[in-house]
Amino acid sequence: MSEGQNHSLTSIVSYPERGVGGNNKYRGNCSRELIKDLIKHFKIPHISDYMCGSGTIKDAADSLGVSSSVYDLHSGFDLMKHDVPDRPGFIFRHPPYHNIITYSDSMYSAADVQSRYGYDPRKSDLSRIPDWDGFVKAMNYCVMKQFCALEKGGRMAVLVGDIKKRGKLYSMIFELAKPGTLENVIIKAQHN
Ligand SMILES: C[S@@+](CC[C@H](N)C(=O)[O-])C[C@H]1O[C@@H](n2cnc3c(N)ncnc32)[C@H](O)[C@@H]1O
Repeated sequence: MSEGQNHSLTSIVSYPERGVGGNNKYRGNCSRELIKDLIKHFKIPHISDYMCGSGTIKDAADSLGVSSSVYDLHSGFDLMKHDVPDRPGFIFRHPPYHNIITYSDSMYSAADVQSRYGYDPRKSDLSRIPDWDGFVKAMNYCVMKQFCALEKGGRMAVLVGDIKKRGKLYSMIFELAKPGTLENVIIKAQHN
């Protein structure tokens, strides 16, 4: 959608056009418009993302003059092994879609990460966990780790996608650990 367009953030959101921001060649990236709507709706002064991918969250925050802290396995941060480095007030969380899209050594070079940060990202990459149960366990370990790091009254927004393989549904929404209080986000439609 174009700049300046207002979206209403309801319990179901739709961004038919991705818009600008992030890198649309980084597969599985999300629309910057979703993040902008979250920032505006919750009046977020600072947003944190520990699986930032192509940097959509930073782009959205920058465009609204909001600060951000972004990390990823591709740039020295392993959520499976490292402590969450901040006391975040708002986390956006967008994990891999199981192994539908492989990130390490596909979207970026594992050798580069090894030489820059001293670890092989393929060993901790959630998108390289072959079995569904192992993936769910790792995904939920990351959820709980981030939830525990939140400041009192903090929020975490989670973007996941259900997947189907050989006609069978694997539901990340169903399997996702949901600590804290779930919020149904419905605001009045905004019209320009
Ligand atoms: C769906 S993508 C995020 C896309 C991002 N929201 C965007 O718009 O570009 C999931 C990300 O999780 C990262 N990831 C996978 N395992 C990780 C781990 N153990 N620690 C940190 N990041 C990890 C991948 O490198 C990938 O960039």
